[in-house]
Amino acid sequence: MISVKHSRGAYNVRFCSFAEVIGGIPSDALVVVDGNVAKLWPLGQERTFFAPPGEQTKCFAELEGIHRWLAKLGADRSSILYAIGGGVVGDLAGFAAATYMRGIRYVQVPTTLLAMVDSSVGGKVAIDIPEGKNLVGSFYPPTEVQTPLDALTTLPPREFTAGVAEIVKAGLIADERLTARLSTGKLTLDSSDLQSVIETSIKIKAAVVEADEEERTGLRATLNFGHTIGHALEAHLGYKDLLHGEAVAIGMVVESAIGVRLGITPPSVLDVVRQSIDVQALPSNHTVLANADELIALMRRDKKSEGGHIAMSLLTGIGQCKLVPNVEATLIREVLNEFAKDQ
Ligand code: GLY
Repeated sequence: MISVKHSRGAYNVRFCSFAEVIGGIPSDALVVVDGNVAKLWPLGQERTFFAPPGEQTKCFAELEGIHRWLAKLGADRSSILYAIGGGVVGDLAGFAAATYMRGIRYVQVPTTLLAMVDSSVGGKVAIDIPEGKNLVGSFYPPTEVQTPLDALTTLPPREFTAGVAEIVKAGLIADERLTARLSTGKLTLDSSDLQSVIETSIKIKAAVVEADEEERTGLRATLNFGHTIGHALEAHLGYKDLLHGEAVAIGMVVESAIGVRLGITPPSVLDVVRQSIDVQALPSNHTVLANADELIALMRRDKKSEGGHIAMSLLTGIGQCKLVPNVEATLIREVLNEFAKDQ
């Protein structure tokens, strides 16, 4: 069990089976579940809202649907909401919990690897608007995170691998040993150290969010290594074609190449980044990188950017990074063009 402290208390991240999650849901609890998860893991729960799978579900219409469903079922301030699914359901149901009656308790039950190691920990909840992803949201810690590792057995392999990208990132920014593990052997469902690798990754995230809960000092923003480029790729592709973790994998390689050009990232570190991405069978290049100007325009809208300056979390070593608030667009363009030539 991992304890995560926050300004109003603390919550635990607890590993369990899916059956234990279901068995432990109080009869008067309310459940928001991803429609696909509900098909694979029937809940037998009456007070359940089925959220359509996909990023488009993180919208005002679904949020309103959950608020009105909670009201119709007579939910009040003593109610507890379970969010069962990947990052989409966690973000949406978490934001519904944060805003219904100015806040009710909620339990995160992440069923994807990405949600287990990233979005379920740290209390960021949000929906998207056409102008950008996660632009309407809040910091609202869960009451508990229950992590059913057996849910990974029904996760499509591509999604599992995409989730590994966030673990690779955690190692590269904060843990040399984790990086050594991931740069030399592929993490799979059958890896004997799967739980301990996931646990290490969660602990890294927990330590960062405890120290900078509301992303005010720049520390939490360092978790965004690979994400300035990654988010721009996803947005340019309309959130199709690349999964989030795949976009982050490409982003980590490109941002490390930018770091090398700035003299911030040692070239040997870029080699380790590339090796880790290759060993984990993640992508390191994509045709979309040829659209440098459009990607740079998207990067200027990234939440880390201020005054149109592009900010990136860049590696200073293995297990070390820093936030660089103003990376020149001309340099980014040059590096993107180099990657585009290499395809
Ligand atoms: N996913 C980055 C964060 O939670 O801050």
